Amino acid sequence: MTYLVTGGAGFIGSHLVDTLLRRGEQVVCVDNFTDYYDPARKRRNLAWASAQPGFTLAEADIRDAAALAAIFAAHKPRRVAHLAGMPGPRPSIANPALYEQVNVAGTVHLLELARRHAVESFLLASTSSVYGRTDKLPFEETDPTDRPLSPYAATKKAAEVLAYTFHSLYGTPTSVVRFFTVYGPRGRPDMTPSLFVAKMVRGEPFVLFENGVKLFRDYTYVDDIVAGVIAALDRPQPYEIFNLGNAQPVEMRHFVDLLQQITGLEARIEACPLPATEPPITFANTAKAGRMLGFASRINVEEGLSRFWAWYRAEGLADGGSH
Ligand SMILES: NC(=O)c1ccc[n+]([C@@H]2O[C@H](COP(=O)([O-])OP(=O)(O)OC[C@H]3O[C@@H](n4cnc5c(N)ncnc54)[C@H](O)[C@@H]3O)[C@@H](O)[C@H]2O)c1
Repeated sequence: MTYLVTGGAGFIGSHLVDTLLRRGEQVVCVDNFTDYYDPARKRRNLAWASAQPGFTLAEADIRDAAALAAIFAAHKPRRVAHLAGMPGPRPSIANPALYEQVNVAGTVHLLELARRHAVESFLLASTSSVYGRTDKLPFEETDPTDRPLSPYAATKKAAEVLAYTFHSLYGTPTSVVRFFTVYGPRGRPDMTPSLFVAKMVRGEPFVLFENGVKLFRDYTYVDDIVAGVIAALDRPQPYEIFNLGNAQPVEMRHFVDLLQQITGLEARIEACPLPATEPPITFANTAKAGRMLGFASRINVEEGLSRFWAWYRAEGLADGGSH
């Protein structure tokens, strides 16, 4: 079976690519190695995959409809996992047009090709950010999502809605998966835990919103996310939205304490008010993914952070290497 994975050189995408290759699939990775963070890290993410016979790298920008059409024509993927995107709520404030072009227009190009090639399943990576600020916990797929706090979240919501429209018009089998704060080996340098650990290694202070008190994130280990993505691709749905999260929010203060315990490094915290782009809590209800996909989060945050730290050291990042 041929899979097309957009954003396959990124953090989550590269784990998905590796897992699909390990089970013997053909994988076409579409990525433009954008410099949101060091593209060299993305090349390294694909080191193992690049040596596998089932792997093809198609360097292309998802804003380029003609390039995508040529890739679909050449490889005829049967399943599409669309993970490429501009991430990050806060950076999106400075460049909303770019987020719209990549996350919305780019998604439309993929939806259009997916329906022309009548793919058997289309998966869209969305985010817990679509839930915005809400007192209703945990977040359920049926909750309102029309008050996004950042351009990033708004573009992801727009992509979800467009995916519905394509399903409605053409019957494209579609799963939207809303990821909750993903972490693990190859984690993005702009996200915790990499962001904090890089400062702790250098003995520098870092900003912790609200001192980490009453601020919760539902940290989800990347292997659990990839298992959920593959389960969704394997069970094509007419159109369904699934939360993929750990369903156990961690108070950020505790998260930093755990990082100190695991790394043996001191955290120098600078308190700062919560920005308007950030909700005070994310908390997934994963009952639907459990029921329909057999999804279950298996790695708790203590285990996951230990694995993250082992990877971080193995990469030489703890020795002051490039980050
Ligand atoms: N990491 C998280 O916690 C998280 C949470 C919610 C949602 N998501 C979503 O999951 C997806 C993957 O996130 P990630 O954390 O792996 O990020 P990432 O930045 O590591 O991966 C995204 C990949 O997309 C590629 N890309 C960006 N713009 C592109 C373009 N115009 N054309 C082709 N490729 C392009 C990048 O080069 C990168 O390799 C994203 O859509 C993100 O919004 C991530």
